[in-house]
Amino acid sequence: MKLADCYNTRQFRKLAKARLPHPIFHYIDGAADDEVTYRRNTESFEHCDLVPNVLAGVEQVDLSTTVMGIPMDLPIFLSPTALQRLFHHDGERAVGRAAEAFNTLFGISSLATVGIEEMGANIKTPKIFQLYYHKDKALTWDMIDRCKQAGFDALALTVDTIVGGNRERDLWTGFTSPPRLTASSLLSFATHPSWTLNYLFREPFELSNLKDHIQEGSNVSISVSDYFSTMLDQSMDWDAAAQIRERWGRPFCLKGIMSVEDARRAADIGADAIMVSNHGGRQLDGSRAPFDQLAEIVDAVGDRLDVICDGGIQRGTHVLKALSVGAKACSGGRWYLYALAGAGEAGVKRALTNMRDELLRDMKLMGVTSLSQLSRDNLRYR
Ligand code: LAC
Repeated sequence: MKLADCYNTRQFRKLAKARLPHPIFHYIDGAADDEVTYRRNTESFEHCDLVPNVLAGVEQVDLSTTVMGIPMDLPIFLSPTALQRLFHHDGERAVGRAAEAFNTLFGISSLATVGIEEMGANIKTPKIFQLYYHKDKALTWDMIDRCKQAGFDALALTVDTIVGGNRERDLWTGFTSPPRLTASSLLSFATHPSWTLNYLFREPFELSNLKDHIQEGSNVSISVSDYFSTMLDQSMDWDAAAQIRERWGRPFCLKGIMSVEDARRAADIGADAIMVSNHGGRQLDGSRAPFDQLAEIVDAVGDRLDVICDGGIQRGTHVLKALSVGAKACSGGRWYLYALAGAGEAGVKRALTNMRDELLRDMKLMGVTSLSQLSRDNLRYR
């Protein structure tokens, strides 16, 4: 499998699987319990069909949109994801540069492996920081203030990781951050020498935004699920979210909203956007797919904030379906992480190129030239 052979997410996934030691691959690829929600996130798009119009004069197609007042050239962006330097030694730097080349929004996790300041100074594309509300309040407030200082465009408070999901693949492989060599993983590290040498001899792995406050994740190995369950503050509530929004004072988003009730409360506290998301199926298995939940949320709050459909997206047509329902944009993690793992910056650029080309082709085939022409009239459910 070569990068040049990757035309879709499934092929990038194969490339990633070949390049990564298995604990790392399964960390990206895996989800909670029986992974029903993970599969549903993509399958849900297949229960809805597009109805195209023709003879519409479609030479010029405009894919630009605005989310939380932030203009971008594509209606899909790169959701914040953790630990990227484990997937490729260029990590967030590669992903940021790729996003910049396409002028789309790029998310950076609290559990990123590159510092807020460096990303702020070097990556010019709009940036959204994914905040995890830690028990350690000095750390939580420090990250918000550093993002402000570094000129981040938006903040997304993660609201669906109040405890860690049951990620059985991670239990089985023994995946932790930083990775531990275990008897069972040793062979996998040994048979992926290029990954292992890069990991051992390049810049030391660290969780750059956390390491001055806590050792877990950088110097003390811990699974992501245990990290969520022990380091994050389970007393987080709507008052905490409102307090964070106030301290941040710029475009603010809640990541992981699934119910209409919560979507309304998000609007009530003045959120500029919500990411309708179940964390890629990695938290509550059996949770509904974002696309299935989108219409009722758009109907309830679409005139008060921007609704982002996060998760399961693998194709341009998935994006067009979500936008037709009323999402302002889409986002996702694995679709670009497989590409990062497989081929670094060139991989992410290829994933973005594939997606942009699909979107341009599919818009023309749908008979529309701007995203605002998409509507539920274009959709039929099975
Ligand atoms: C995850 C976190 C870190 O593993 O976003 O799902």
